[in-house]
Amino acid sequence: METAEAKNFKKVDIIFECQDCKPIEVLDTNLQRKPDDIILDIIDSGLKGRGGAGFPTGLKWKFTKNESAEPKYVICNADEGEPGTFKDREILDRVPEKVFVGMALCGYSIGAKEGIIYLRGEYNFLLKDLNKKLEKFNKQLKERNLDFAITIKSGSGAYICGEESALFESMEGKRGEPRNKPPYPTSEGYNAKPTVINNVETLVYTTMICNLGSDKFKELGTKDSRGSKVFSVSGDTPIAGIYELELGMSLGTFVEEFGDGDTKSVQVGGASGHCVPRKYFEDTIIGFEGIPTGGSMMIFNSTRSMYNVLHDYLEFFTEESCGQCTPCRVGCQQLLEGIEAVKKGERRPSYLEDLKKLASNMNLAAKCGLGQSVANPFNSIVDNFKEEIIY
Ligand SMILES: Cc1cc2nc3c(=O)[nH]c(=O)nc-3n(C[C@H](O)[C@H](O)[C@H](O)COP(=O)(O)O)c2cc1C
Ligand code: SF4
Repeated sequence: METAEAKNFKKVDIIFECQDCKPIEVLDTNLQRKPDDIILDIIDSGLKGRGGAGFPTGLKWKFTKNESAEPKYVICNADEGEPGTFKDREILDRVPEKVFVGMALCGYSIGAKEGIIYLRGEYNFLLKDLNKKLEKFNKQLKERNLDFAITIKSGSGAYICGEESALFESMEGKRGEPRNKPPYPTSEGYNAKPTVINNVETLVYTTMICNLGSDKFKELGTKDSRGSKVFSVSGDTPIAGIYELELGMSLGTFVEEFGDGDTKSVQVGGASGHCVPRKYFEDTIIGFEGIPTGGSMMIFNSTRSMYNVLHDYLEFFTEESCGQCTPCRVGCQQLLEGIEAVKKGERRPSYLEDLKKLASNMNLAAKCGLGQSVANPFNSIVDNFKEEIIY
């Protein structure tokens, strides 16, 4: 990981506070432009998906637009199931119109008529207000003769339904299980039709890029991580909450700002992310060139047992694995039982090396991102906090 480009700490107010953004005016202005010009702007901005995987958003729109199959869909992924992530809820609560406009401009750009927000089941308390605002927004779209409308579909509380292909299955009324890839959603997504699926925050940034221009967006961040990002900060911090920050700072800078003076590790990217110990804070860049994150930053101080942290994560993955493929279904269970056995002294400490190999094999053999990413927390916690796991 490089430090050369590490940025200073910088709070940004693009998503929540930006005073000169009236979403409906952004829509009006951009409906005067050619769809391809909007897509080119999003490509030029360098915006990468904020849901975790970081795929370039403009390219996703372009690939979907280039497909000949009809109809096309725009899906907003508001499942937000990653432990420690709570920023999409806040965005949908405070600035939903910016999400709607991002979806509408995507629909206009790619030639889709239907947009659907897949809303985490636990966020159903937002439904009434969102539906009311959508009713008004859909009417405004009609008045502008834009053949596009947005509806909401409620999720049912499964973490795996945030994975895009499982999300499509769930939306189609089936059990939420990931599909094989390829085909990718841009060619065969919802109802096996070309689909753009973007995270809530990604869609807001598309609205803001259409408002401020891609050059303005590129002024923030680094070459590989353009712009800013909304972080959900939790754990041992006196100032837990939601913050929009410029990408590319070091984790050391982050901890200086948010830690309680006794931070021993930060779990970057939720349960499926990496655990970074204090000795690597300065060398770790928060961004796609270092450690990417969908937004979850969990801070642990020296009172925390990293065994308990890892145990909690493994219980979570064991519970949430859809069970479709053996490496994940059996692997999660084996890792959980494995560290329990080491902790009780029933297995030697060297058994942890076997478990690490199992986690790495899961990364290679599991069908979807859930099973593939279990190695991130497992190997990083075992490597750095082995003494807290052994008997
Ligand atoms: C197990 C799992 C859960 C996921 N949960 C979410 C989620 O809650 N929200 C989200 O936006 N992306 C989630 N993703 C990523 C999506 O599959 C997809 O990459 C994302 O919605 C694409 O949007 P983006 O390009 O704007 O980031 C998850 C992925 C996996 C493997
Ligand atoms: S990796 Fe896990 S969650 Fe993904 S398909 Fe396999 S069993 Fe299901």
